[in-house]
Amino acid sequence: MLNIIKTHNEEHFNETGAGIITSLLQSNPRAILGLATGSTPVGVYGKLIELYRKGSVSFKQAATYNLDEYIGLPADHPESYRRFMDEKLFNHIDILPENTHVPSGVEADPQTAAEDYSRLLDEAGQIDLQLLGLGHNGHIGFNEPGEELQGPPHIVKLDERTRLANARFFNSIDEVPTHAITMGIGSILHAKQILLMAKGEDKAEVIARALKGPITTKCPASFLQTHSNVVVVVDQAAGKWL
Ligand code: GLP
Repeated sequence: MLNIIKTHNEEHFNETGAGIITSLLQSNPRAILGLATGSTPVGVYGKLIELYRKGSVSFKQAATYNLDEYIGLPADHPESYRRFMDEKLFNHIDILPENTHVPSGVEADPQTAAEDYSRLLDEAGQIDLQLLGLGHNGHIGFNEPGEELQGPPHIVKLDERTRLANARFFNSIDEVPTHAITMGIGSILHAKQILLMAKGEDKAEVIARALKGPITTKCPASFLQTHSNVVVVVDQAAGKWL
C-alpha cells in the first residue's frame, strides 16, 4: 500500500516525517529504525531533537541502522555518514551510542565490512521503519541504476551523477569517494514500513517515475512499489506529478 502525503511547507514536511517516527517510538520504544543521510532528512532530525527536548520522545531503547557509508572516509571525516549522523541527530538525543550502526568505510577489506554489516542486520531482525531519501537517478541508499540490483549489503561504484550531486559537500569532486557500502534493495524491502521523503522541483520527475513508472533496475526506487507498507512524504514541488 502506498500512502502519499503532500505537505504544505518545509515545517509541515519535517513535522510529518518526525511525527511518523515519534508515533512509532511511542508505541514501541524498542523500535529498530533504518536511517538515511542526505539533505532531505536533516530537518526531520532537527524536529526529532526538538521533540526529544520537549520530552515527547525517547530513543533510549531504540536501535538504528544506517543505509550506507562512503568507502575511504574515516568515521571522523566531516563528510562521513557516521559523523553526519552523530552531528545531525545522535549527539543530541538519548540514544545509546552502541545502539547506533553505520557501515564502516575504513576496513582494510571493504567486502568484509559489507559482510559484517549484513550479519549485523540479520542479527537485528526486522527494521520497523526505514527512512529513505531519493537520488536524482532513482537511487535509494546507494543502490545505483544498472542492469541488476543486489539484495544484501554490498559495495557499489558510485554513479558520476551521484558524485557530482554530492560534490557540494566536499572541496571538489576529486575528494568525493568513488565507492560506498550500502544496504541492498533486499535489506531495504525487508523493513516492516518504509518512509520515503523527497522535496523540491528537482525530485518531481524521478519520484513520479519511481512510484508510477515501470518497476525496473534502471530506477531502483521503483522496487518500492512491491512493498506492502510505504508512506511517501513530499512537498508540493516534488509531489506535482503524483
Ligand atoms: C545520497 C544518499 C542517499 C540520499 C540521496 C539524496 O547520495 N546516499 O541516501 O537519499 O543521496 O540526497 P538528498 O536528500 O541530499 O537529495
